[in-house]
Amino acid sequence: MLLITRIMPEAVLARARAEHETRELCLQGPFNPQDVLDNINGVDSILCVTTDKFDAALINVLPSSVKVIATSSVGVEHIDLDAAAARGIKICNTPDVLTEATAELTLLLMLMAARRAGEGERLLRAGQWKGLTPTFLLGRNVSGKSLGIFGMGRIGRAVARMARGLNMQIHYRNRNPLPPELEQGATYHADDARFLAKLDFITITAPGGPSTLRWLNAERLALLKPGAVVVNSGRGTTVDDDALIAALRSGYVAAAGLDVFTNEPEIAPGYLELENAVLLPHIGSATVETRNAMGFLALDGIKAALAV
Ligand code: DGY
Repeated sequence: MLLITRIMPEAVLARARAEHETRELCLQGPFNPQDVLDNINGVDSILCVTTDKFDAALINVLPSSVKVIATSSVGVEHIDLDAAAARGIKICNTPDVLTEATAELTLLLMLMAARRAGEGERLLRAGQWKGLTPTFLLGRNVSGKSLGIFGMGRIGRAVARMARGLNMQIHYRNRNPLPPELEQGATYHADDARFLAKLDFITITAPGGPSTLRWLNAERLALLKPGAVVVNSGRGTTVDDDALIAALRSGYVAAAGLDVFTNEPEIAPGYLELENAVLLPHIGSATVETRNAMGFLALDGIKAALAV
């Protein structure tokens, strides 16, 4: 029996139903572990998403029939991997298949923030557009600027590839430098201060979790060039919201494009008041092709785990 926590795309559900007996919870809103426990009888596999927190407390009370938890996400910070390993429960995620969609969204945020697209659309819809004047809604060019990528994994490298098409100079901050064939001419920085001082734009594509918690804090924001643009399509927890809100308010950071938030779907209220913040509801991988591919890959993982 496969327990599916959330509403999945139709093609994914069709395959899941063909391969398994399914129990589909169609949960909406905040995750309540009791919903899983109330429906766990006879379950050998679980298909979940990033909002479903499988912490040690939940994993430790799953019955021994549960052999695998597959998450339709690349991120696995919502699952206690040690607790799962201790129970012999396999964990599968969906890397690779969402790389292009998430990189596209990162570019979209960068362009929207730099060109004040959210602000312009709000203004037009409010009937406040009085016509073109030379100083109306001036943003800044993206082309030819320096871009710093914090987290040069698959998604970071796809952002770099797309940004090179805009003639941007790519800098990156990673635990280790990449080999030249992956670096593709990007400049590695081993040091935050030197990295941040170079940047017109910074995009965050690093995983969440304790090692990146509030990495972009007030001290590091102050190391950016005045007027830099901050984009986050990784995890909200990597940014100190109060610090970024203060920097956007003062104009030290010219604009931000954010697809992820610390306590999403709750948003730090300060962001909502800022015209220079573009705010999207965690749609980095939300394309038909990508969500199907993620679901299929999760089902592949379940099949492989159950076959052993
Ligand atoms: C991921 O895959 O981790 C994305 O954030 C979507 O959940």
